[in-house]
Amino acid sequence: MITDEEIARLRALMEWEATRTAPPEGFPKLPDMPAARYTSPEYFELEREHIFRKSWLFAGHLDEIPEPGCYMRWHNAGDPIVIVHGMDGMVRAFYNTCRHRGAPVVTEDRGKSSRLMCGYHNWTYKTDGTLVGVPERQDFPPDFDMSCRGLIPVRCELLGNVIFVNFDEDAMSLKDWFGPLWDEWEEFAFDRIRLAARHSFDLECNWKVAMEANMEVYHVPFIHPETVAPLVDSRRNLNTMYPNGHARMLAPPPEQTDREHVRAIDSPPEWLQIESVGEIGRTCTQSYTLFPNWVSPLSNYFVPPLVFWPTSLTTTRLELVTMALDWGDGPAPDLWTVPDETKPDGRDMSPIILEDTQFGEAIQQSMQSAAFKSVPLSYQEARIYSFHQACDRMIGIGNVPEDLRVEQVIGDEWTWPNDPRVRQMENDAVKAREAAE
Ligand code: FES
Ligand SMILES: [Fe+2]
Repeated sequence: MITDEEIARLRALMEWEATRTAPPEGFPKLPDMPAARYTSPEYFELEREHIFRKSWLFAGHLDEIPEPGCYMRWHNAGDPIVIVHGMDGMVRAFYNTCRHRGAPVVTEDRGKSSRLMCGYHNWTYKTDGTLVGVPERQDFPPDFDMSCRGLIPVRCELLGNVIFVNFDEDAMSLKDWFGPLWDEWEEFAFDRIRLAARHSFDLECNWKVAMEANMEVYHVPFIHPETVAPLVDSRRNLNTMYPNGHARMLAPPPEQTDREHVRAIDSPPEWLQIESVGEIGRTCTQSYTLFPNWVSPLSNYFVPPLVFWPTSLTTTRLELVTMALDWGDGPAPDLWTVPDETKPDGRDMSPIILEDTQFGEAIQQSMQSAAFKSVPLSYQEARIYSFHQACDRMIGIGNVPEDLRVEQVIGDEWTWPNDPRVRQMENDAVKAREAAE
């Protein structure tokens, strides 16, 4: 939970951001990022091999496997896995690969069973992965040890009801990965929110192109004049970098905003509210990047992550998820999609998401031209730079060819809990007082 002191500091910093006439003192000049980070097959392979194999990744919600024995297939990050709500109540993930001759153990997207049985020769596993049944057991050698032929586990941990997986056996715990966000997100009731909607759409651009449209507010007045701009004062925006590549943007609504307009697009019925959400979440827009591929505005209404999955160098699957506290008997809220009978599952992306994704394909093509040399980023876009630094660190800086690397210029001194802007703001206030006297 954020303390009152912290709320006051955040409010003051947002106001201070609007008064600055240059980037904060001492904020590093961001070197141009190499263009090929968006177009090089080599960099893409490094991302797949390291970022998506070693990071904690959003996999689903407990509502998708609500009871012991429920399981779901998941293959958004390469190797197909199965996530199982064990008969003992534990949620676990396994490679969906039979230890006999490699057939998939589970062949439906969802199901429920007290045992998992491979359809090829009926090897049978308990929901904790243990191999318990091998037909014609007598034809295997007498010392054939079933106990070491259980399903191969994938790390799986929960934030409340939300399931994350990690292919790296040696990864830090999910809680350590979240770092300060673990406590900061407590007010959003991850242990009580339900899954309301989950849809995916295929985009024709690199996953970072799609994701970065949601990692800065610089574009808001230009791309979203009618939708986001009335909610977000981009001049009062405050970015905060967290350890492990996570980040937050925080901005109040513009002072002159049209309240009716805001209510029309941002205020679902009262009964949906997450009552534990504090003042900042109720009165400002905040959006978090959870490294590597989750971006979510968090408020007292919804937990609605956008999740970006690379499907190739130039294509992305965008998952649009809405989680909310409760919606009684009414239809489940769906923040990001709207009915559209012409689309495969009868939904299309909502106007805000269409605004953000509309240029993806054209941007990707334009990036692949010889004219795309490098990317200069402003202070306001520092979340993107910091995200790229985290990508290289996750890959291992030495593994990234020099011409593809970004320099690690945003250091710990600009990463939570450190924030040199606080000192500058205080100094500015002293100077203003002196000038007034
Ligand atoms: S491959 Fe699964 S039982 Fe043979
Ligand atoms: Fe946007």
